[in-house]
Amino acid sequence: MAATPQTEAPPAAKGADLQEMARRHLWMHFTRMGSFDSEHEMPIIVRGEGCYVWDQHGNRYLDGLSALFCVNAGHGREELGEAMATQVRELDFVTLWSYAHPRAIELAERIAGLTPGDLNRVFFTNSGSEAVESAIKLARSYFKATGKAQKTKVIAREIAYHGTTMGALAATGIPPLRTPFEPLMPGGTHVPNTDSYRWPEDRDPLWAADKIEEKIIWEGPDTVAAVILEPLQNAGGCLPPQDGYFQRVREICDRYDVLLVSDEVICSWGRLGEFFGCQHYGYQPDIITTAKALAASYVPMGAMIASDRVFEPFSEGTAMFAHGSTFAGHPVAAAVALANIDIFEREDLCGHVREKSDEFRAALESLADLPIVGDVRGDGFFFALELVKDKETKESFDDEESEALLRGFLSGELYRSGLICRADDRGDPVIQLAPPLIADTEQFEEIVETLRPILDEGHRRIAG
Ligand SMILES: Cc1ncc(COP(=O)(O)O)c(C=O)c1O
Repeated sequence: MAATPQTEAPPAAKGADLQEMARRHLWMHFTRMGSFDSEHEMPIIVRGEGCYVWDQHGNRYLDGLSALFCVNAGHGREELGEAMATQVRELDFVTLWSYAHPRAIELAERIAGLTPGDLNRVFFTNSGSEAVESAIKLARSYFKATGKAQKTKVIAREIAYHGTTMGALAATGIPPLRTPFEPLMPGGTHVPNTDSYRWPEDRDPLWAADKIEEKIIWEGPDTVAAVILEPLQNAGGCLPPQDGYFQRVREICDRYDVLLVSDEVICSWGRLGEFFGCQHYGYQPDIITTAKALAASYVPMGAMIASDRVFEPFSEGTAMFAHGSTFAGHPVAAAVALANIDIFEREDLCGHVREKSDEFRAALESLADLPIVGDVRGDGFFFALELVKDKETKESFDDEESEALLRGFLSGELYRSGLICRADDRGDPVIQLAPPLIADTEQFEEIVETLRPILDEGHRRIAG
């Protein structure tokens, strides 16, 4: 399906040559800047509405990734802009460093009311990495404050992405993102993830959960502070937990007095059909980290949400969590987040995801007849197709083939055809879909119609 040209390019595309300016001065993140030149334009997105965005030439794209799992309530919500303007008129900024303000207080109370159990204490951040960084520092600080100063290590899963700051990077389990910056913070250690696509058939379903216990014992329980896991692991291609996985992990964490951190930077705010991903899989973490869709990403905002028990050592006398940042809990971001939660409740976006998730899954599973589609997995509005060279043997593409398939063909072709999704190979090659939570049958059909001929052609080119 071709991108739909609009009659008139939006105003931002007129005037100065954005391509040339960007090539000279903009440094994009996780991007090969050398791939852009006068013949290869960078994608410049200038407008968004609902499930769609438009580029500077007026071409329309289905945002099948919610702008990197961020714009869960959809693009172009004017009431979020109005919430910003109202807040600036009332109080533009005050830091949470020694002061409080009404929107941060109201938002903290609102979030605490949505989380499960006693996750009642909200520490705001500016991003997901900062939320994870805060959780790691809190885990260390908590154990120091409770007389177990040796407990400093953090266990995470292979190929998991937990952010880029030096602490969060120690939890991130993706070697190419780690090695350029070594030595990292000591104490980050990894266990197998829940990718069961190539597991032997007779493997115990809770094998991956039990690997966490083995790792705690091997490292020494007195040295392990936290286990950090996403409810559904993003990197590696939407890896769901096995039934009972998190319940077993919870038991293990309790047995060895290790904090369970649920990294929900992606999996909260309706992505899995509940406000928090741990609610979808029925487990109780000690800390949740969130960001991205919290303030709909119309402004940056993250948070670390701690249980009463973890907050307790910092609650009295001269005790203090010696951590913070100037902008975290910004009044404008808090006002947007409150308005965003209003939208979620008014439109029951979580209910919509629960209602439509099976239909979305079924639409993607209709592609399973293609020789290149080895596995379809995920939950809520968050799915991946794993691409394979040989479906019978589940043989994956080697590095060269994967590069040619994903970067040499699929990424560009899908974008040219009007679909923004993720073609990724942090692990085996996958295509990931996570549209805004307002997406419906029309968008599911559009995704499938776009993917089918392109995946077919990809297979012919690389494996055929
Ligand atoms: C699970 C998880 N944790 C942490 C992060 C880091 O968040 P940010 O990019 O906002 O720093 C991400 C980002 O995608 C993430 O997916």
